[in-house]
Amino acid sequence: MNVAPAFDHEAYFRFRDDLLGPSRNRILTAAELCEAGRLIYGDPNGLSLYGIPAPEMEAKGIRLLGRTTIECCVDAHATAVAQAVAEVQAGLPPVEDAMIVDLFCGSGNFGHHLGERLGYPVYASELDPVVHAATRNNLDRIGSTIDLHLADYRDLIARLPPIGPHDTYAIEPPWGSAFTADGLDLTRTTPPVPEILADIRRARAGHPCLVAIKTNDKIAHDSLETSFHDATHVRTVPAHRTLPWGANMEVHVYRLDVGDRRSRT
Ligand SMILES: C[S@@+](CC[C@H](N)C(=O)[O-])C[C@H]1O[C@@H](n2cnc3c(N)ncnc32)[C@H](O)[C@@H]1O
Repeated sequence: MNVAPAFDHEAYFRFRDDLLGPSRNRILTAAELCEAGRLIYGDPNGLSLYGIPAPEMEAKGIRLLGRTTIECCVDAHATAVAQAVAEVQAGLPPVEDAMIVDLFCGSGNFGHHLGERLGYPVYASELDPVVHAATRNNLDRIGSTIDLHLADYRDLIARLPPIGPHDTYAIEPPWGSAFTADGLDLTRTTPPVPEILADIRRARAGHPCLVAIKTNDKIAHDSLETSFHDATHVRTVPAHRTLPWGANMEVHVYRLDVGDRRSRT
């Protein structure tokens, strides 16, 4: 009989603390990438970005920093989200063109899969030069056409006039002190999610769009509802649950419409 290995909380949280702390800005070795896959996803191949699983990353020239290894949206989840967004877009009036904007791109894997599935150009901003350099290397290695900027997300959105209602913004700001014992508080991310939404609305001057936000599976103080009180919830895509409650990922898709005041449906 096959018995799933027991989740090793202590080893996972020790590893996580190291990758977000001392090893934050260090490129991980091939062995460390496989260990990350095993500890986070229960299998070295679970850590997979741009279609490349951890055991093959080094040979293919993929470089991942400690922090990005913890923060990234892996292939299995990113492809499920891209499929969900494609289905949502299919229910909207057809358009000739649209754009995808990955505002806090980290590895860029979220934007990578949205672009592959939806077929629209992808723009991405990353503010940290160390993360940006690793991602630049990786996107070059896979021949990506993502238009990657070393920039604050506000500068990127200000340069991108709205195209149409299929425009999709991926948002996942750093959590920092927003990750509390009560869950993730989206009003305390850096910057707070309500501020990011206000920036998007301002840049679009009232033109509707879609927003996909990555959270964990334990939200504090209804802060997701509060942040998106004037948007329409259209999908939630949970990642495969391998970690304790509060440490697994979810992506929520919302429609930002002028005059639409419905929250989660
Ligand atoms: C939680 S990670 C996002 C991970 C990403 N979704 C992925 O799949 O790899 C947040 C990223 O946003 C970057 N960042 C922080 N503040 C930013 C800003 N104002 N503008 C653009 N990027 C920013 C951080 O350096 C970090 O790499």
